[in-house]
Amino acid sequence: MLVLGIESSCDETALALVDEKGVRASVISSQADIHALFGGVVPELASREHARLIGPLCDSLLKQANLGPEPWKAVDYIAVTRGPGLMGSLLVGVAFAKALSLAHGIPLIGIDHLQGHLLAAGLEHEILWPALGVLISGGHTHLYRMDGPVDMTVLGKTLDDAAGEACDKFAKAAGLPYPGGALLDALGKKGTADAHLFPRPYTHNDNLDFSFSGLKTAGSLWLSQHPQAHFPAGDSPAKERLELADQRLCDAAASYLLAIAETLTIKAARAMERFTPRSIVVAGGVAANSVVRREFARLAEKRNIPLLIPSLSLCGDNAVMIAEAGRHMAAARRVHDLSLSAVPRGQSIPRDWRVL
Ligand code: KG4
Ligand code: ZN
Repeated sequence: MLVLGIESSCDETALALVDEKGVRASVISSQADIHALFGGVVPELASREHARLIGPLCDSLLKQANLGPEPWKAVDYIAVTRGPGLMGSLLVGVAFAKALSLAHGIPLIGIDHLQGHLLAAGLEHEILWPALGVLISGGHTHLYRMDGPVDMTVLGKTLDDAAGEACDKFAKAAGLPYPGGALLDALGKKGTADAHLFPRPYTHNDNLDFSFSGLKTAGSLWLSQHPQAHFPAGDSPAKERLELADQRLCDAAASYLLAIAETLTIKAARAMERFTPRSIVVAGGVAANSVVRREFARLAEKRNIPLLIPSLSLCGDNAVMIAEAGRHMAAARRVHDLSLSAVPRGQSIPRDWRVL
């Protein structure tokens, strides 16, 4: 079964072809350089870029896959991210997927982007069910009970900022160029964490939700009290300026990331008191963070269960994970029709599939 995956929820335009043996072809174009000029994603520019790139990228994907003179005859399903994400960006991918579905008579499947992130782990390792899913991205922080690839329940989520947002905002306030998360990680690697510098926010309760806004405020306060420690300004590449960074900022970055990672593992450990998972899946852009990876490795070792984290290229937004999620939906015989809606951030994804 060959599934085409399409991803355009934020600032990556990506398409991939996946079958049961793995990835057949994959293309991705990031708009990070464009949005860096504005210090964050500009939705209108993002959707225009998706519209400009999605057709040519699809052509390159088909060339890469080498499917013969009639490539569309080889494609069994078209899976597309329907949300959550930026509405204008989502609509480009969804409209493109509908056009392909209609033109070539290929069934359409709408995918929950967050579930796609989690299922990316299944491409490289076997997920043992039930699994505890920890989805940490730029816009979302969700804990899931995963009973199977199409059977997931949200146990808790952030009430305000996402873990990635907390990283990005601290990075921006410290003077790091956008997108700041990965650079903050690099900065933290040069520092020593002080476990008492920042709070583990919203952990003194018995629920599974998160709130990172207090940590963000603590980070801003520290930065306003240490203006001399800010990241060196200049036109040279950020990687070069990293070498000149103030040691206090490196230590604060390490401490801030430890606060995020420990807050996540505190709630993950609490979720494991409510049910007994056979594996832990950590996914989404922030799963690329070295401190988060280390702290979850510790938790998994202590509980003696496998930890599954996608490789770095599958942590950020990509279409391979969307095609993989589509493969599972197709196996469950779930498809959508041309009325498939795009769902912006903050709204829940309807369970409106049709069973074949
Ligand atoms: O999943 P993703 O690519 O896009 C969304 O769906 O949001 O996640 C992007 C987020 C951004 O906040 C980015 O700064 C963060 O992931 N990120 C990191 C690292 N790499 C990406 N945060 C901390 N450490 C990293 N190494
Ligand atoms: Zn994402």
